[in-house]
Amino acid sequence: MANAPLHPLPAFHSKVIPVIVISHADQAVPLAHALLKGGIDVMEITLRHAAGLAAIERVSRAVPEMCVGAGTITQAHELAQVRSCGARFALSPGLSSDLVLAAREAGLPYVPGVMTPSEALQAKAWGHDLLKLFPAAQAGGLGMLKAMAGPLGDVRFCPTGGISPANLVEHLKQPNVALVGGSWITPLEWIEHQRWDDITHLAQQATQLTQQAQADRV
Ligand code: 3PG
Repeated sequence: MANAPLHPLPAFHSKVIPVIVISHADQAVPLAHALLKGGIDVMEITLRHAAGLAAIERVSRAVPEMCVGAGTITQAHELAQVRSCGARFALSPGLSSDLVLAAREAGLPYVPGVMTPSEALQAKAWGHDLLKLFPAAQAGGLGMLKAMAGPLGDVRFCPTGGISPANLVEHLKQPNVALVGGSWITPLEWIEHQRWDDITHLAQQATQLTQQAQADRV
């Protein structure tokens, strides 16, 4: 891996990263405010819809208290692109040298995705100790995270895929889980129908469950 430095994630408080598919960029700012109102100060806007880049740009310009990142990064050139739109970090569903290198070159904090211990070892060798476990449920969920805690004790994970209010607390209580990601807080249909109060309600619920997990962990 080239000598470009690895950039740490920016500071934010939430342990839950909403994974967002958005179809109209003009809905991004009210969405950011709805999440902030529910105690969530981070969002992952995915590039799964053409509106994703513009949505990142809008939030980055209009809502500085929201830590906006880019998700579903699958091509190296997208890293410089999201950086120029104001993304403060980026995540991918998988791991490749091209993506890791492009994130470094773009100067963007980056969380690669892994599903196996071998991929986690490779990511670690490239300097990454915070990894997205994706798809978490299919990878083995909590059992997989517990199994990896021994041999890969210095790696922390952001499990994503299959996380919900029903299993959020148990995931956040797991010592090698730093963050979790999930789409349940921001259903596309709710965003499209501008159901901001409902989204705030789910964000509040996630914030309360996070506090419960943190209290249990002490
Ligand atoms: C992701 O994009 O990271 C996942 O698809 C989110 O998974 P979920 O919809 O099960 O939360």
